[in-house]
Amino acid sequence: MSVRHFTDLSAVSEGDLRFMLDDAVVRKARLKAGERTKPLEGKVLAMIFDKPSTRTRVSFDVGMRQLGGETIMLTGTEMQLGRSETIADTAKVLSRYVDAIMIRTTSHERLLELTENATVPVINGLTDDTHPCQLMADIMTFEEHRGPVAGKTIAWTGDGNNVLHSLLEASARFRFNLNVAVPEGSEPAQKHIDWSQAHGGKLHFTRSPEEAVDQADCIVTDCWVSMGQEHRARGHNVFSPYQVNAKLMARAKPDALFMHCLPAHRGEEVTDEVIDGPHSVVFDEAENRLHAQKAVLAWCLGA
Ligand code: CP
Repeated sequence: MSVRHFTDLSAVSEGDLRFMLDDAVVRKARLKAGERTKPLEGKVLAMIFDKPSTRTRVSFDVGMRQLGGETIMLTGTEMQLGRSETIADTAKVLSRYVDAIMIRTTSHERLLELTENATVPVINGLTDDTHPCQLMADIMTFEEHRGPVAGKTIAWTGDGNNVLHSLLEASARFRFNLNVAVPEGSEPAQKHIDWSQAHGGKLHFTRSPEEAVDQADCIVTDCWVSMGQEHRARGHNVFSPYQVNAKLMARAKPDALFMHCLPAHRGEEVTDEVIDGPHSVVFDEAENRLHAQKAVLAWCLGA
């Protein structure tokens, strides 16, 4: 069997993604029921972080432990990687020691170079381009609260960042309608739009957040300046019309969900009344990072 990497939703089949989500639901239920199995006993996950993290770091670490495995936490600056050893050589060396590698890094090319040179599975824990693990947790969360996401309408308002790129891919893989409202100059990368549309994604783009969220089943947003993207920072007055506040939330369906991958910048992209209000499922999303990623780890490692 070829090595199973989890680099992007576009790189994994619809069937495999659905398998992982179903598996995540079962693993979550078993954990809540107190059942513990250790399918990854003896396995080690190396976690490389070139950027800060709370949820990704802790959920992968706890997830591996719950599956019976172990983790090694590595930061780029503490490794020879930070002293000009190449990603390719790092991939070849780590593959001799560990059973899988999770990386959070800057450019997507670093992730792909790691993947091309590793002989063990590589998991994308976020790059400047995409965040597929987040979307696995988000789809799991939506379906937990509202049933199958296929045919539903999700609205994105704010910056066209890495989470939106994976959301665009998810819309094709999981067959939901996606409305996108971003200000001029913050559009998502065309390649993700093209890929989604070529694979059946039903996308609608508008400058109007009100139009995007109208009768939507879920509103999603993220911070206006992504980690490491400060050079793209723009005046908050550009984004302020895209803030998810009670008035904007009220334009979606009465039972619409609000999602945010966190960390949130309260008072900027979302108000307290929304993120702490009855529509918000942001902490379920954070929890489901754990369950969804356990399913990703099990799929990658054939457990
Ligand atoms: N949503 C997310 O990836 O959180 P962290 O940056 O804390 O890992």
